[in-house]
Amino acid sequence: MGLILGLNSAYHESAVCLLEDGVVRFAAEEERFSRIKHGKPARVDNPDSLPEKSLSAALREAGARLCDVEAVGYSFNPPLRLKNIDAGGGVEGDWGSMAGERLFQEKLRQVPLLLDKLAGRSLKKGFHWLDHHLCHAASAFFPSPFDEAAILTADGIGEIATTGLFHGQGNRIRKLEELLYPDSLGFLWEKVTLFLGFTEYDAAKVMGLAALGKPAKFRGAFRQFVRLEEDGLFFVAPEIVRFRTPDYGALEALLGPRRQPGAELDPRHGDIAASLQELTEEVLLGLAERLWQRTGSRNLCLAGGVALNCVANAVLQEKSPFHRIYIQPAANDAGTAMGAALLLWRQILGRPKNWFLEHPYLGPAFGESEIHQCLIRHGLRFEVCPEIEVRTAQLLARGAIVGWFQGRMELGPRALGNRSLLADPRNPGMKEILNRKIKHREEFRPFAPSVLSEHARDWFRIPGNSVSSDFMLLAYKVLEGQAKKIPAVTHLDGTARVQTVRAKTNPRFHRLLSEFYGLTGVPILLNTSFNDREPIVCTPADAVKTFLRTGIDCLVLGHTLVKKKPDAP
Ligand SMILES: [Fe+2]
Repeated sequence: MGLILGLNSAYHESAVCLLEDGVVRFAAEEERFSRIKHGKPARVDNPDSLPEKSLSAALREAGARLCDVEAVGYSFNPPLRLKNIDAGGGVEGDWGSMAGERLFQEKLRQVPLLLDKLAGRSLKKGFHWLDHHLCHAASAFFPSPFDEAAILTADGIGEIATTGLFHGQGNRIRKLEELLYPDSLGFLWEKVTLFLGFTEYDAAKVMGLAALGKPAKFRGAFRQFVRLEEDGLFFVAPEIVRFRTPDYGALEALLGPRRQPGAELDPRHGDIAASLQELTEEVLLGLAERLWQRTGSRNLCLAGGVALNCVANAVLQEKSPFHRIYIQPAANDAGTAMGAALLLWRQILGRPKNWFLEHPYLGPAFGESEIHQCLIRHGLRFEVCPEIEVRTAQLLARGAIVGWFQGRMELGPRALGNRSLLADPRNPGMKEILNRKIKHREEFRPFAPSVLSEHARDWFRIPGNSVSSDFMLLAYKVLEGQAKKIPAVTHLDGTARVQTVRAKTNPRFHRLLSEFYGLTGVPILLNTSFNDREPIVCTPADAVKTFLRTGIDCLVLGHTLVKKKPDAP
C-alpha cells in the first residue's frame, strides 16, 4: 500500500504525517489530541514520548495499522548531534552538559524500540534517522508548487545546525551550506522573548509588540552581540544564547533591566522588540541574497520556526531577489514530520511526485451524527440549517462571535477557517470584546483577517504572488482608506496578517465570506484560533467545552447551529 510515516518528537511540537503512495493522508500535531500545548515540553529526558494519539488518528484515517507501514522517517539524526556538539557551558543535566546530552541520546535511541512495540513487529529495516534541517527543507520544498527552488531554513537548533541553505530540484534536495549553534536566530528570539517577560513560545507576541516600537534606539546594542557580514553570514555572541542558561546579565548590560513576567509594558520593551525584528529581517535578507547567488533560482521556500515571522516573510517577498515565496503552514518543528515522510518518499526511495499541498486541511473530521450525539450529551439545543453560511453571516453581521467548526482540522499553528473563532472586523470594539469574553490576550496583539481571494487586492497591498497568503504567513499593508473600515483586524502599524480564502480549497468558508460581503460590502472576517489559552480545538467535544466556558455567542459545527441564548447575539 506504500504507507510512509513521518514523526517528530525530539524537542517539541510532536507531530505525525502519514503518506499513502506519496499523498499526505493525514498530518497533525499531538497537542490537539493530548490537549497539552506543543505536545510536550522540550527536555532532554522525553524525546521518547511519542505522539501516540495523533498516530492513532492518522492510522484510523488511512484504515491502516502501524505494522502495515513500509518505512518511518524521524526528523532528527542522533549521530550528527554526537559528532560536533560542544558539551560544556550548559546547565548541568541539560543540553550542552555531558550528562544532559547522554540522557538525550539514550532517550532518542528508545524511539525505534517503542515503535516496534506499538507495531507488534520490527520496523527497524525501514526506520530512518533524518537530518532535522533537511526535514525542514523537505517540508517546504516537496509540498510547494515548485519543481526547482532555493530553500532557507532557520530555527533554534536541529542537531547542531541552526540555519540551512539548500537547493531543491525534482526529487532531490542538496545542502549547500549550514550555520551552526550558537549562531541561531531561533535561540536569539527565545532569549529576547524571555528577557521581555514572556515564555519562550511567545515569539508572536514580540513580533506584535515590535509594531509599537522604534528600532533605532537599540540598533547599536543588538549589533554588539549579533555581527552581520557583507556576504550574508551572521554570528551571535555565545554568552547571549547559550543553552537554557538563565543568565540575562549580558543582555541587561546592553538593553537595561529584564521585564518580569506580568509587569507593565513600557515603550522600551517595544523598542527592543522593534530592534530584534529589524535585525531579523536584515539577517534573513542577507541569507536570501547569499542563497540567490548560489542558486540563481526565482523561487524561495522557507521553513523552521523563524519562518512563522509573517512580517519578515513579507519583507523577503518584497525585497529579496526571489520572485515567488512559499511557506507551508507548519513551518515550525511540527512540519518536520511531513518533511521526513516526503523526504523518504521522494529523495530516499526515489518515488514519483504524487502530491503537493493545495490546502492545510489534513487532520481529522467528524460526522454530523457524531456532532449531534456530542451536543445531546451536553444537553444543548441545536438546529440544523441547510443554508448554514447564510445564517452564520447574518449572525456575524449582527455582532455575534461565532465558533466555526468545519471539516478536517488545519495543519499548523493558525486557524484557517475550520477551527476558527469568527467576528465582524468592522467593529472597532471587537478586539476588546474578544479579549474580554474569550481570548484573554495582551491588548497590543492584533487579530487577523480572512478575505475572499478575489477581493484581497482591493483591501491589502499584496506584492508579487504567493500561495502562502492562504496560510496567514505574510503580513501586508492595509490599503489607505480601507483600514478605517476594518479596525478590528488592522494592526497598529497599519498591517494585517492576511489569510486569502479560495473557493476551490475551502468552499464553505468562501461561501460564508461571500454571504457576509453581500450583507455588509466587506469581504472580510476577523479569524482567530478557536481556543482560549490552550491548543486549538480538535473534536466537537473540545469545541463544545470551549463554547460553554467562554463568551462565544454561537457555535456552528457543520450545518448545525447552537446558540448560547435564544436571542443571541
Ligand atoms: Fe526545527
